[in-house]
Amino acid sequence: MFRDRLAQDAAFIQDHFNTVLGALDDLDVTRAMAYATEGGKRLRGFLVLESARLHGVDANRAIWPATAIEALHAYSLVHDDLPCMDDDDLRRGRPTVHVKWDEGTAVLAGDALQTLAFELCARAEVGEAAIRADLTLTLAKASGAQGMVLGQALDIAAETAASPLTLDQITGLQAGKTGALIEWSACAGAQLAQADADPLRHYARALGLAFQIADDILDIEGDAEKAGKRLQKDAQAGKATFVSLLGLEAAKARAAELVDQASAALDGYGPAAETLKDAARFVIARDS
Ligand code: IPE
Ligand code: IPE
Ligand code: MG
Ligand code: MG
Ligand code: MG
Repeated sequence: MFRDRLAQDAAFIQDHFNTVLGALDDLDVTRAMAYATEGGKRLRGFLVLESARLHGVDANRAIWPATAIEALHAYSLVHDDLPCMDDDDLRRGRPTVHVKWDEGTAVLAGDALQTLAFELCARAEVGEAAIRADLTLTLAKASGAQGMVLGQALDIAAETAASPLTLDQITGLQAGKTGALIEWSACAGAQLAQADADPLRHYARALGLAFQIADDILDIEGDAEKAGKRLQKDAQAGKATFVSLLGLEAAKARAAELVDQASAALDGYGPAAETLKDAARFVIARDS
């Protein structure tokens, strides 16, 4: 059920990308943008579409912010993989954008995916102006120096820190790097309906942390073929992760606790939230 829904939502987002990106001039930078958006799990877009469904929002409105967050996420990965960041040559089972094209194209494709995300949130199709402004404003906060970019900066700084980060510091780093976009995604459905987003926010805070712990565990014991990216890089790069601080077993236990917390946060929605609860279980059981 959950896997089918994720696959359906992913296909819906891919179709929408085809329409939106297909309208752009055919250039290296736009080809690189399309390439960078292909092949992910679409978890963030799924969270937008499912939280919207939970609030009875028309999928033809929700698809815009769902595609927006996947564009923003794709930008963050293109830049994360650059030689000046994590220096990775493989993403989603294919050469990274700067390897397939060049660094300049990768920087620009990332830039353009980022601005596209804001354009998609602000489009008339999303609904009332106040809702569009709210989505755009909150996406800006979640993406920049109070959110994802802050987390990425702390992640890079930790590589050369004189002493290991504390648990609180790692939690803060990950809340930015991974948590902020996941939180925005899960709250988007409530924002589209102008409903209370608090239960979804609690769900997403636990889910986002569990998601990044699972990513860090995958780096240690995952199968690179299945993950579609290079693994066993974090320790060598000096990355600060839950696993580096707590060890594998305690990190797994923490992730499982967080999944229970995420699930409990949605109890008030009743059976309608089952798919989102399944998503929480999926994030720690995944192999890619
Ligand atoms: C990978 O995100 C980067 C992190 C934030 C840990 P995902 O695991 O969601 O990547 P895709 O989109 O499915 O490739
Ligand atoms: C990337 O985190 C987070 C963002 C792109 C914001 P990681 O560096 O851990 O992701 P992977 O392991 O390369 O997918
Ligand atoms: Mg990184
Ligand atoms: Mg990386
Ligand atoms: Mg990682």
